[in-house]
Amino acid sequence: MFVRNAWYVAAQSEEITHALTQRWIIGEPLVVYRTRAGEVVALDDRCPHRRASLSKGSLVGDDVQCGYHGITFDCSGACVHVPGQERIPPAMRTRKYPVIERWNWIWVWMGDAEADESLLPAFQYNDSPGWKAVGGVLQVNANYQLLSDNLLDLTHETYVHGKTIGNSAIVETPMEYEVKGNEVHIKRIIHDAPPPPLFKRVRNFEGNIDRWQVIRFQVPAHISIDARGYPAGSDDMARALRWFSMNSITPIDERRSMYYWTITRCFDLENEELSQLIYDKILATFLEDVEVIEAQQVLIETDRRGLIDTSVRADSGSISARRIIQRLSEAEAAADAGVTA
Ligand code: FES
Ligand SMILES: [Fe+2]
Repeated sequence: MFVRNAWYVAAQSEEITHALTQRWIIGEPLVVYRTRAGEVVALDDRCPHRRASLSKGSLVGDDVQCGYHGITFDCSGACVHVPGQERIPPAMRTRKYPVIERWNWIWVWMGDAEADESLLPAFQYNDSPGWKAVGGVLQVNANYQLLSDNLLDLTHETYVHGKTIGNSAIVETPMEYEVKGNEVHIKRIIHDAPPPPLFKRVRNFEGNIDRWQVIRFQVPAHISIDARGYPAGSDDMARALRWFSMNSITPIDERRSMYYWTITRCFDLENEELSQLIYDKILATFLEDVEVIEAQQVLIETDRRGLIDTSVRADSGSISARRIIQRLSEAEAAADAGVTA
């Protein structure tokens, strides 16, 4: 179940150079590259001649030459050369996808509707003055919604991430959630509880802390978490831990996903050792999630009895997010059926 009229992360900026790169997004193959002037281009990777993979061809200037029979397309997807003939068949063109490069990531609009820049998620802290981001990307062999579920129910931190960001204070504190249009907002504020191991190490907290987890879900699977830890009873930012965990999940297909993530903090910005520590520990934390989620995917897809999930209160946010995706994807399917009927 995919929403097509949405932005998906295709790559981190540094991954795309003046070379052809293949990316799969919601089951569609794309060829992505940077022109000599630095602009990022995303085209359908299926050559309209015989559907060879354009990304296995070569760049001729800023044009893509198919590696099978040499038909060549410019960065608008228009055919500019057919070997051995002058005439270019009108249907010989490949689809161009709208692209925005922002906040160190490359976003591609996969829908038929006009690209709507206002639907980009609020991920500006990935690249803002006063903030320092570390991050990366992981391939996960699981459906993208299992990853959204994971980020929308942080009670799992208590059980999965006890070495870094989890402790029992999380499950003991209920969350509040609210659906606002196509967004889900979740808030958990923990008062006067011990810091989890990574918070203690990063900010040298001596006693208990007040801890905030404010989560925002945006379509299709963009989840930011405003995470804060203050010395208990204070709002002293000078001694606080504050970072955003920015997460964007791009489905490759129904059972594989790319997980783009950053942690972007607003304290001790120049401290390289701290950046490395946060990167290493958060990567280890996310790999703990991946282990759980990939095992979950296998058990779900081999379940011949078709067990129905039994839900609890902590699932409220993820269930709301799934309902939004279901509503939007069904509306797109209905619109498609209306067009073809
Ligand atoms: S398949 Fe691309 S030129 Fe023939
Ligand atoms: Fe996790």
